[in-house]
Amino acid sequence: MSDLIQEINKRRTFAIISHPDAGKTTLTEKLLLYGGAINLAGSVKGKRTSKHAVSDWMEIEKKRGISVTSSVLQFKYNGYCINILDTPGHQDFSEDTYRTLMAADSAVMVIDGSKGVENQTIKLFKVCVMRHIPIITFINKMDRDSKNPFDLLEDIENVLGIHTCPMNWPIGSGKEFKGVYNRKSQSVLAFTANNGQKEVEKKVVDVNSPELKEIVGEYKYQDLVDEIELLDGAGDDFDLEAVQKGELTPVFFGSALTNFGVEPFLEEFLNLTTPPLSRETIEGEVDPTSSDFSAFVFKIQANMNKAHRDRIAFMRICSGKFEKDMEVFHLQGNKKMRLSQPQQIMAQEREVIDEAYAGDIIGVFDPGIFSIGDTICTARNKVQFKGIPTFAPEHFCRVRQKDTMKRKQFIKGTSQIAQEGAIQIFQELDAGMEEVIVGVVGVLQFDVLKYRLENEYNVDIIMENLPFQFIRWIVNDDIDVKALNLASDTKRIQDLKGNHLLLFTSEWSITWALEHNEGLKLQEFGNN
Ligand code: G4P
Repeated sequence: MSDLIQEINKRRTFAIISHPDAGKTTLTEKLLLYGGAINLAGSVKGKRTSKHAVSDWMEIEKKRGISVTSSVLQFKYNGYCINILDTPGHQDFSEDTYRTLMAADSAVMVIDGSKGVENQTIKLFKVCVMRHIPIITFINKMDRDSKNPFDLLEDIENVLGIHTCPMNWPIGSGKEFKGVYNRKSQSVLAFTANNGQKEVEKKVVDVNSPELKEIVGEYKYQDLVDEIELLDGAGDDFDLEAVQKGELTPVFFGSALTNFGVEPFLEEFLNLTTPPLSRETIEGEVDPTSSDFSAFVFKIQANMNKAHRDRIAFMRICSGKFEKDMEVFHLQGNKKMRLSQPQQIMAQEREVIDEAYAGDIIGVFDPGIFSIGDTICTARNKVQFKGIPTFAPEHFCRVRQKDTMKRKQFIKGTSQIAQEGAIQIFQELDAGMEEVIVGVVGVLQFDVLKYRLENEYNVDIIMENLPFQFIRWIVNDDIDVKALNLASDTKRIQDLKGNHLLLFTSEWSITWALEHNEGLKLQEFGNN
């Protein structure tokens, strides 16, 4: 096997998704510990401490102690090279989160055992489903009183519409948590409660050994035997193919905080997921092991260093090998170029790298030429990745500059921030750029916009919230937008590419528009 194939086969690239506080950061920390990448738990994110996470690049994140942007971490474990794409779990998250999922090959869904499936998870999960990527579930916080595990599975099945297959099974929860039964090895990983220590004692016991009854107690032992019988008889059978198509989610129970069940989870995760697979391009599929390098930009992070106005374009390598200083072809710019300062984030540090392979994410210095969805490939074998969809913003406001003399900076600032994909800009029909309508996926982006315009572009703005909740792209090319028959609270707007869109305050107005305009076609996602 060639070195290239060997390296690519080692790769696993996944996104980690959850509702805030389910334990995503804690689980990430523990996973990194296994890779020996960090030795201090709690160093990924210092939520309420003075420490700040790798991903907390922007001032606003530091002030609020939350992650606004998603980051990428890499670690090695047992011969594998694992890339974790962190997605901000904050309620006010941005489109970045959705796009990050486009760069991942699988997703780990962390669920709080006492809460079940929560709102934010549903949103993220929908994007995973759209991509048919494997989704592996980790039900966390079993050391706290949790919901009945059967109810939790039902919750996942009903709310998310995916079949579940428990890989292990909890024995009690909270103070009564005794461990998890591994269905494959038919053994129990026993949990020894400790007074809030960060690492609990673990012991593997065969399910038929008399010791198990002693450890878990007669009563719980009988419960376990009954539950195993029920699972074996009534649950969905394990089916690797269904897992890999994203139709069945393997479920693991554990406790990230006490580092219980994390390593078995990681090991099994590596068996359940595949190395990077082929990716679609306009010209057909690209094989990751092809000797031709190809990648696409899924995220642009601006001004990590304010003094230099630098931007980093994050790209997911889809095929071949990247070598420092190699010449690549930027398809959208129709230009040969060298990617400068390629970086990767190893746990705490950003470091300049010499090589990277399909599956890896690299961040390169961007002098303002890349846009989200751009393809980078070799000049001899040009391909174009299908664009990343523009997700429908859910919050809108009208933005104008306080000082009309600052018009140029205002246009530059809003356009650049929009190019990075943090916000979407629209205009009312026939309006100038002095005033724009800004749409965002999460309201926090409004604060980010205001902060950045003030700090980086020296422009003060006035923002006025708009009551719209839904946006739709008009698919018909040949329609006279002004002649559409619309409800009085529907607004006609355009994006910067001149596409026509409609803003609605309710689902009712959408239906109204469709019913009163024969042939009108509306779409929820825009095409980049
Ligand atoms: P997030 O990234 O998904 O938002 O969640 P995070 O890991 O920050 O965890 C949220 C809270 O839940 C943290 O407590 C964390 O310590 C706790 N937690 C995570 N996993 C477990 C678990 O397995 N068992 C228990 N009992 N708690 C868990 P916090 O008090 O909000 O923050 P901190 O002060 O501990 O950092």
